[in-house]
Amino acid sequence: MRPTIFDKSRPGASGHAIFDAEFSSAPPTELYPKGLLREKPLGLPELTEIEVVRHYTQASLDNHGVDSGAYPLGSCTMKYNPKRNDALANLSGFRDAHPNQPPETLAGIWEMMFELQNYIAELAGMDAVSLQPAAGAHGELAGLLIIKKYLESKNEKRHIVLIADSAHGTNPASAAMAGFACRIIPTTPEGLMDVEALKAELTPDVAALMLTNPSTLGLFEERIEEIAKLIHDNGSLLYYDGANMNALMGISRPGDMGFDVMHINVHKTLSTPHGGGGPGGGPVGVKKFLRAFLPVPIAAKSGDTFVPDYSLAQTVGSVKAYFGHVAVMARAYCYILTMGAAGLKEASENAVLNANYLQAELRGVLPPVFNKLCMHECLLSGNKLAISAYSFAKRLIDYGIHPPTLVGAGCVYFGEDLKSAMLIEPTETETRESLDALIAVFKKILYETESDRQLVETAPHSSPIGKIELKTPEVEPSGKKAVA
Ligand SMILES: Cc1ncc(COP(=O)(O)O)c(C=O)c1O
Repeated sequence: MRPTIFDKSRPGASGHAIFDAEFSSAPPTELYPKGLLREKPLGLPELTEIEVVRHYTQASLDNHGVDSGAYPLGSCTMKYNPKRNDALANLSGFRDAHPNQPPETLAGIWEMMFELQNYIAELAGMDAVSLQPAAGAHGELAGLLIIKKYLESKNEKRHIVLIADSAHGTNPASAAMAGFACRIIPTTPEGLMDVEALKAELTPDVAALMLTNPSTLGLFEERIEEIAKLIHDNGSLLYYDGANMNALMGISRPGDMGFDVMHINVHKTLSTPHGGGGPGGGPVGVKKFLRAFLPVPIAAKSGDTFVPDYSLAQTVGSVKAYFGHVAVMARAYCYILTMGAAGLKEASENAVLNANYLQAELRGVLPPVFNKLCMHECLLSGNKLAISAYSFAKRLIDYGIHPPTLVGAGCVYFGEDLKSAMLIEPTETETRESLDALIAVFKKILYETESDRQLVETAPHSSPIGKIELKTPEVEPSGKKAVA
């Protein structure tokens, strides 16, 4: 056994005044009941600094992150978090601020939040924004609570939320949490919302339609204006799941498409860390007629200074302690200022270009599910693979690439034809070289499936944990599924 600091015989212990003083006096054994005295010295581990450093460095290497390799996950994608953002959020004015400080000493933070609210409103075509929610899913909940309270204020009894079958799983979950029941709208073979099916569901009890545009299939809803009109003519509201706004910055705005309420996933569009339902950000934006319902506080200008405004008449209340995640918002703010209007547009253009480049180059390995240009992510079919898409994806780990999203895992419903599809989002932050390397790995794995199938099927071989066998989720035969 290694000597411990309590072990007087440890090398170097004797002769040191400090140890002698600490350990030479005998414990007052007579005070302790018999049987409660230790018989052996404490077995505390003794580690050197370098051992601790190596332990934690290894633990960080066991993780896969954007800083260590490509992360083309699809849907919940991580793009690079610029270190400049971290440096700004780490300025002592942000880092050392406390929400209980006198408000006048936080005016700088409120100014930053005020400007960010305006930037997001401008990007999205909304009239007002609250930065309170802590994640995309949390923004959804806040947005649906706004819709609920608005309808209640008009004495309208509408309890149904319509959701596309391609929606992210958080959509029905948020609707259920906000007290709505859901009806699912199917997707056409072209990958767009089935407008005829939508019409059939537009009953007087429909509160809202939640829509992601571009969708989780990587496609732009071409009939969005018609959909918006149908929804509004029915007296319902249109909710925008803004997770995919990274495809639209400076190009098109959900507010102009007819959406009334939205959230934006700042981790996807504005390069902040992903909260994953938790310590991230999901600002919620609304059109003017819903401003009074926003979560408080929002940032406001008061004379020459900036303050938190809690006075919104019909607010749904606070959805997060204090002011939300200020350090995340500081990062989003830094990103917007760094990029500028032209840079944000270029980022979206590159996100779309990169996804189309992958789709085109991988056509021979994984043909696209929908044979047309995609937006920021592409949906590729694994139907022709000799092995399961799951095994194929896991082998990517051995080459330092995060597996893409296997469709069905994150979405409400997908039919048989999409069972082995992969949703791949390279993001604009991958270079041409990095994309080419990624394409080469996909091709290599395709070759391996033929030359050494066993190798691929038992992958990954390089990670601390091997493949976990999946139970295939049950897929319903019909597109209509009551989720809540
Ligand atoms: C389309 C879509 N909606 C909602 C969410 C949920 O967002 P979050 O993970 O920030 O809660 C995601 C994930 O990023 C998403 O891709």
